[in-house]
Amino acid sequence: KKYEIGLIGLSVMGQNLALNIARNHSIAVFNRTETKTRNFIKNKVKNQELKATYKLEEFVSSLAKPRKIILMIKAGKPVDLVIDSLLPYLEADDIIIDGGNSYFKDTNRRLRNLKEKNIKYLGVGISGGEAGALHGPSIMPGGNENAYAEVSDILEDAAATTNKGACVSYLGPNSAGHYVKMVHNGIEYGIMEVLAEIYAYLDQVLQLKPDEIGDIFADWNQDFDSYLVEITAKIMHQDDPKTGRKLIDLILDKAKQKGTGKWSVQSALNLGTAIPTINAGVNARLVSALKEERINNSSQFASSTRAVVEKKKMLPILKKTVFFSSVIAYAEGFKLLQAASEEYNYDLNYKEIARIWEAGCIIRSGLLEPIQNAFKENRNLNSLITAQQFKSQLNAAAEEIAPLVESAAKSGLPIPAIHAALDYFNSLKSKKLPANLIQAQRDFFGAHTYQRTDDQGTFHTEWK
Ligand code: 6PG
Repeated sequence: KKYEIGLIGLSVMGQNLALNIARNHSIAVFNRTETKTRNFIKNKVKNQELKATYKLEEFVSSLAKPRKIILMIKAGKPVDLVIDSLLPYLEADDIIIDGGNSYFKDTNRRLRNLKEKNIKYLGVGISGGEAGALHGPSIMPGGNENAYAEVSDILEDAAATTNKGACVSYLGPNSAGHYVKMVHNGIEYGIMEVLAEIYAYLDQVLQLKPDEIGDIFADWNQDFDSYLVEITAKIMHQDDPKTGRKLIDLILDKAKQKGTGKWSVQSALNLGTAIPTINAGVNARLVSALKEERINNSSQFASSTRAVVEKKKMLPILKKTVFFSSVIAYAEGFKLLQAASEEYNYDLNYKEIARIWEAGCIIRSGLLEPIQNAFKENRNLNSLITAQQFKSQLNAAAEEIAPLVESAAKSGLPIPAIHAALDYFNSLKSKKLPANLIQAQRDFFGAHTYQRTDDQGTFHTEWK
């Protein structure tokens, strides 16, 4: 018997995706360390058409031609190593699908190299964590379009679904899929940080208990329908079995990162696009990592006096801030996608991207429906902030956020992502920014010249 598809890499994500695919298609699996495969087969696999293989050659020869092989392995060097070890067994027209969080430039390189060998390559972003992989993730494929046509039925069957269809769609050539997934994660970083800042405010300024905070997030989420808000509420309610205390109060305030947020910011800078809220999310994790330094510093500064605010007045403002800052994080992400699409010829369809993010992925939320409508009405929308779906609400929210910003500053509470979102919005709607002074300064110290409002051309002044 030949199997329809093969999967290499049995981490939890790989295992769950294999089980998901096996519901509708026959699948062979392989993992570098044999015991992982044996444990998987013993503990997780019931009656599925799922074949365990223990030699790479056996794995490849158990697949129907052209072979379709999904890699669910750690981004970076391991992907190259596995591809190299597969190559001796592959033939022209076989298809390799990288389902990890690979850096988009690596995907371009692999695609180019494999094309020379007539191997078709797909760089596929898969979002939804362990549960998503098992029950239906959001799948973001890019690369060889013919290869996509050959695996689309398998990916569609595995993906999450909405009433608009499966949350998978061919996004574009080369690294389009991994680029879109990278930006998905960038938005994820931004929204996570916004929610963390709101939590900090509820905890430290309003001095609410985790259970109360959880109730507030759960209540808001009736309107937001956001996965990240939903899990934030659940996290607040979680007890620690060991101590009986709330687990959130026992978790160290130091966050790690694996790279996709940083890459989003690096790529945005390379493309000359500002994504300040997403950037704030990345920076906040970096600063959080300086725990020792923060502890030392805290003893050197007198602590700020907590602002006295009325909970009843502040809660609606905090809720609006979540809405406002989340929309801005998506707006930044889509603007980055537009810049990348132009630079790398991805020819991205933004409405379709918002559609496949509606279920399965980490940034799924009620905002993705109006985002789709915004791009449906205007394919070339400059920014989501001017979409009629958001415009007036954002404008109202930006003003209403003021008491939050003020009381956070008074209390010495950092809210970098919220500040960034607010400043991004206010900057983008400013007819006049103080860049006239920046131009003058550049010309003053470096004769870099400047442009004028009342005349064409470039000018230089002998500044006094
Ligand atoms: C997803 C997640 C997933 C993963 C990220 C988190 O969409 O399912 O984004 O890809 O959790 O790698 O990245 P950090 O470790 O950098 O937070």
